Amino acid sequence: MEIKGKRITITPIELKDAYSMKKWGRHKNPLLFDYNLPSLTDEEIKEWYRFKTRGNNKKYYSVFNEQNRFIGYMGIKNIRKILSQATFGIVFDPNYVNQGYGTEAIIAYLYYFFNEMKMRTLYLEVAKFNKRAIQCYEKSGFKVVDVYLEEFFDQKIDLENPYFLEEKSSFVIEDGKVYNYIYKMKIDKKTFLKETK
Ligand SMILES: CC(C)(COP(=O)(O)OP(=O)(O)OC[C@H]1O[C@@H](n2cnc3c(N)ncnc32)[C@H](O)[C@@H]1OP(=O)(O)O)[C@@H](O)C(=O)NCCC(=O)NCCS
Repeated sequence: MEIKGKRITITPIELKDAYSMKKWGRHKNPLLFDYNLPSLTDEEIKEWYRFKTRGNNKKYYSVFNEQNRFIGYMGIKNIRKILSQATFGIVFDPNYVNQGYGTEAIIAYLYYFFNEMKMRTLYLEVAKFNKRAIQCYEKSGFKVVDVYLEEFFDQKIDLENPYFLEEKSSFVIEDGKVYNYIYKMKIDKKTFLKETK
């Protein structure tokens, strides 16, 4: 199985791709520290890979650019065949963000998801502070359908950090606990095919 975009190629993820995440860059923005994967040990990468590829209700893929460099991974989880729906996720090497690769990979994958896999609906969850991801998802055709609060992954975040202050409206602090708004987004086959005609 191989999905081709103009510059990118998507194939099922392999363990050797996961190991090359050790060479990825790092986000400077502490709100994105959850996506800094180079700090994982070999053992943690193996465990990460096993978790991502275990069971048949999820599928994970590698994304390669035109130089055949592994620039990111993406996948679907919570696959529900009877309802024809799943939940999407994507993480790129920080050295390769903001170059249009994400949007290209998502649109190429959506064609495959709707036309080849014959699925009907794809959902995702994204933090409200993650403006780049939201812009990429909106360009790909996803629309916000719900919003809710979730505990922020780093309860020790420096509340004076400029990245935090810039996105302060995306957070709620209550009883000393830090929560952040999450958008649930959705795209369905009909809308996608109509908009990409
Ligand atoms: C989210 C992600 C996959 C998107 O892929 P990408 O290749 O960076 O996205 P693209 O370059 O295709 O599109 C990004 C868009 O966001 C815009 N953007 C960048 N920073 C922005 C900001 N601070 N505010 C608003 N828009 C912003 C870009 O200008 C571009 O839009 P445009 O083409 O209309 O100008 C990638 O950035 C990534 O892996 N980020 C870290 C992990 C992550 O956040 N994953 C998503 C979790 S839900």
